[in-house]
Amino acid sequence: MNPQKLQETFLSDKAKTLLHHPQGMGNYFTFKSAVDILGLSWDELLPNGIYNVTGKGYYDMGYMANLIGPPESAVEAMKKHCTIDELKVYPPDCLPELKKLVAEQKFGRTLGDDFTVLGVEGAQGGIGYTYMAFLDPGDEVITTDPAYFHFVPGAQINGAIIKPIKLGPHNGYKLNPAEVEAAITPKTKMIVVCDPINPFGVVATKEELLAIADIARKNNVLIFNNVTHNTHRTSETAEQIPMARLHTPETPMDHVISVSGISKGYGMPALRVGFMAGHPALIRGAFLLKMETTKIHINYPGQYAAYAAMNDHAYVERSTEIIRRNYKHIEETVNATDGVTIPVKPEYGFCMIIDVEGTGVSAQEIACGLLNHNIAAITGDGLGDVGATTYIRLNYSHPDIECFETFRKALPLAIAEAKTGKYRQAVIDFFAKTETERGKKIIEILKKQA
Ligand SMILES: Cc1ncc(COP(=O)(O)O)c(C=O)c1O
Repeated sequence: MNPQKLQETFLSDKAKTLLHHPQGMGNYFTFKSAVDILGLSWDELLPNGIYNVTGKGYYDMGYMANLIGPPESAVEAMKKHCTIDELKVYPPDCLPELKKLVAEQKFGRTLGDDFTVLGVEGAQGGIGYTYMAFLDPGDEVITTDPAYFHFVPGAQINGAIIKPIKLGPHNGYKLNPAEVEAAITPKTKMIVVCDPINPFGVVATKEELLAIADIARKNNVLIFNNVTHNTHRTSETAEQIPMARLHTPETPMDHVISVSGISKGYGMPALRVGFMAGHPALIRGAFLLKMETTKIHINYPGQYAAYAAMNDHAYVERSTEIIRRNYKHIEETVNATDGVTIPVKPEYGFCMIIDVEGTGVSAQEIACGLLNHNIAAITGDGLGDVGATTYIRLNYSHPDIECFETFRKALPLAIAEAKTGKYRQAVIDFFAKTETERGKKIIEILKKQA
């Protein structure tokens, strides 16, 4: 059978939803698409199928791994717990001491009859189980545009309908309670509150969080509060508040499911450890679904590494300084580059957007030029319709300042190359192949640009 016929015959409707989804992996543009366009070697840049560029002389500003890497204390803990005895048994989803630490440190709550933590496979596991446990076909989910790649497709494979709220200067690039309220219908089941928000790195205020929680409570809507980027406070003034921490008898947060992980805060995405928390009655649903899909256990070495890392406050201080230094460097580069702006200053984490609209060429063409000059980045079309051809998302956690020196040299060269039109047809061909609706619109934009 030909591949298309095989897919048509055997894939579930869920899987089919993703085949030509603009945010299905492989259907949105990244530095990986540029590898082929530039005729570079996958084995050199991304050996053994790794997702972050590690090729010599290249710097990764693409996917959101914290490139500072883990604290030594976590590596030591992992080694110590990589024993025959700990590998030959099924571990629990989450060690009791880790559960307690995560509840208190990550979500600002104490464990009890009304709050528990479930260990999951990264924050992404938390996204999957949250959607699986709480969404039915026809349910509406309020999220932002742009948003982290998987918030939209992950909900849609469960049959949910996305109600996006467009972000821009009018709402400070984050959810505005009045806009959330206006988007609520009798079918609304969930509001995704990603805070700090990927891709802008800004955070909600306490008042905004309380207002959104109140709107959701009144309408029997669940809140999915993803706080996985909240470890590094890069702004001197901002304060990120996990919604669970706002729980009081007057403002109960029983309708909030909280998620975090250790990929961003502690540089350990390879361990696939994350946490999902909330009222035990609700977490029980996720627990049962997790057991039936991937089993409930999370590896011991990873759990001990997470525990050690979360107790290593000096590491967090050190890495926050690196990230602050890096942001300043990018800000100077952007200020010195015509046609490029930072729409909003990030406040937490190491995820930010630069807007290249003023250059007159697309983010995708510039991403090709950036990789040609050793910088890997991801463009806006993987994150939403807003900024699809004008946003470039940057990971600015690299510990080596040479990354940012390279970016400084690469950005103007990449724009100049993009302006010659040399990458345009290849970018058009990429989107023609993916057959997504967003891709078709992008092709039209690129053709007009010619
Ligand atoms: C908002 C958000 N949630 C979840 C994840 C996935 O994190 P993990 O590696 O812990 O699964 C990411 C990674 O970029 C993210 O930005």
